[in-house]
Amino acid sequence: MNKIGIIGSGLIGKSWAMLFACSGYDVMLYDVISDQLQSALVDIEAQLSALYKEGLQRSSLTLAEVKGHICTTTILEECVTGAIYIQECVPENRDLKRDVWRQIDDVITPDDVVFATSTSAIVPSLLSDHLKKRHRFMVAHPANPPLLNPMVELVPAPWTEPAAVDRARALMEVIGQVPIVLNKEIDGFVQARIQAAIIHVAWQLVSEDYVDVESLETAMSEGLGGWYAFMGPFDVKHINANGFVDSNKKYGAMVEQVQKTFPKPELMQGPAAEKLTRDLEQWTPSNRLADRCRWRDRRMSALLQLKRKLDEE
Ligand code: NAI
Repeated sequence: MNKIGIIGSGLIGKSWAMLFACSGYDVMLYDVISDQLQSALVDIEAQLSALYKEGLQRSSLTLAEVKGHICTTTILEECVTGAIYIQECVPENRDLKRDVWRQIDDVITPDDVVFATSTSAIVPSLLSDHLKKRHRFMVAHPANPPLLNPMVELVPAPWTEPAAVDRARALMEVIGQVPIVLNKEIDGFVQARIQAAIIHVAWQLVSEDYVDVESLETAMSEGLGGWYAFMGPFDVKHINANGFVDSNKKYGAMVEQVQKTFPKPELMQGPAAEKLTRDLEQWTPSNRLADRCRWRDRRMSALLQLKRKLDEE
């Protein structure tokens, strides 16, 4: 009753594998490409070693014990048989995901196994309507990287049984994640919708030359980000005035006026996108992206530890 099946050993599959293994679950990681599984294990070792070296790990187990909880297979049936929970992490392609889930549906028989997909934005009904066991299917969308970002959004399809969501929520809590549960499905769920709104506005400000990209990024990292690492937009509004009603009275019309100036959605392309790419390349050249990821991950690990410490006070 301790086995987790993870389908796909890319960026997100690896991170889920580490998360479950850090809590002592036996993870079986499946991929169609055997070389990918080998490189996943190498990368998992490197990521965990870096965290353990700096004391930023999320586990009371030793590094060797965590690694000992992860094994790999190229046989789907071996991965999912006996698992209590299956987390699918194959590329964001609706047909591919539907096919993978059809195969899993054919193999799994026990009635209490949770079927979860990591999809970033495809609503669960579009991935599960063809399944015999669709009542236990849901989205469990992590924030990247899941190992350092505890929020997971659980999104049920119209036919998902509440008991399945409860099981997923309980499991997420056991592994130290912070689940939120949507009442019903919507494109982009919560996180990708908010991100889409931010990118929409940021693109307008940069592409229409109101501000350069560096200043735009600074507004997030040195301004809004300070609040949002600890609280959400309504809570911020509530305490930045004498409560939400007062805030609305003082700033509601201003907010509406600003919102009226938002442009129509558009693809980010053309000369403005080319300039943005050049600016970003100057900042972090493409061949240094892995370094920049490590830079971010160290800071996110430290922030996570700080937040946990503050929560205990
Ligand atoms: P990825 O491209 O890094 O990894 C996908 C893995 O799936 C590869 O190892 C590939 O070999 C494997 N694969 C392909 N077909 C397969 C099959 N039929 N059976 C088993 N394995 C198969 O992709 P990534 O970034 O890990 O994304 C996976 C899912 O997680 C996507 O749905 C994505 O939208 C979602 N996600 C991605 C986030 C991100 O920031 N990259 C954040 C949260 C969710």
